[in-house]
Amino acid sequence: MVADATHLDTVRCDYDSMADRYAEFVRDPCNAEPFGRALIGIFADLVRSHGNNMKVADVGCGPGHVTDLLDRLHLHARGIDLSPAMIELSRRNRPDLAFDVGSILDLDLADRELGGILAYYSIIHTPPEHVPAAFAEFARVLTPGGYLLMAFQSGDDTLQTWEAFDHKVSPAYRWSIDALADRLRGEGLSEVARLRVQPGPRGRFPDGLLLARKAEAAN
Ligand SMILES: C[S@@+](CC[C@H](N)C(=O)[O-])C[C@H]1O[C@@H](n2cnc3c(N)ncnc32)[C@H](O)[C@@H]1O
Repeated sequence: MVADATHLDTVRCDYDSMADRYAEFVRDPCNAEPFGRALIGIFADLVRSHGNNMKVADVGCGPGHVTDLLDRLHLHARGIDLSPAMIELSRRNRPDLAFDVGSILDLDLADRELGGILAYYSIIHTPPEHVPAAFAEFARVLTPGGYLLMAFQSGDDTLQTWEAFDHKVSPAYRWSIDALADRLRGEGLSEVARLRVQPGPRGRFPDGLLLARKAEAAN
């Protein structure tokens, strides 16, 4: 676990102050992401077909709309977010699901507790030097053979590793898919599939989607 109170405080305050506006933005059907939704469907199929651990966490869940989707895909979904205002919105939208304030870098979950983790545009706010610690935490709480799906802002082939960008809410970093896959491998999570989606009319950067898996034989 890496504690970096300054960056966590910044992200928490930024999202607390923008929670309502952010929730409105993602409610707009124009912002729907068909590729992301398709991969979330595949992620849910894979989790359901592996063993019998349907517990998944949506880490950096924001207002909980994707946690809601995971539940509708018949997974035992819970949401975790740094921002108390986001968690409040999530609980209001889906009072029947578990939502907790918490950090990607220090998950309040037992070793091997989860069949899957979704990190949907949330790892982008973790400073690059702390990303391996976040992935180590994902590997710790995943069951052997469990799946991780991440979505993030990416780039074209000229983006070698990562680059800071002017995200509208909080400091953020976009990543080359290769570089994130490499860091996942370093923490025992192997790439299963990847997708790069070119920006639509309202986007600036390609999106990266990366599906990875913890080895069946891992602890
Ligand atoms: C761009 S929003 C994405 C929200 C949601 N996943 C979505 O796709 O709409 C990023 C979210 O990640 C959360 N977040 C950022 N860093 C985090 C961390 N270290 N631990 C937990 N949540 C974090 C923020 O509070 C915010 O709600």
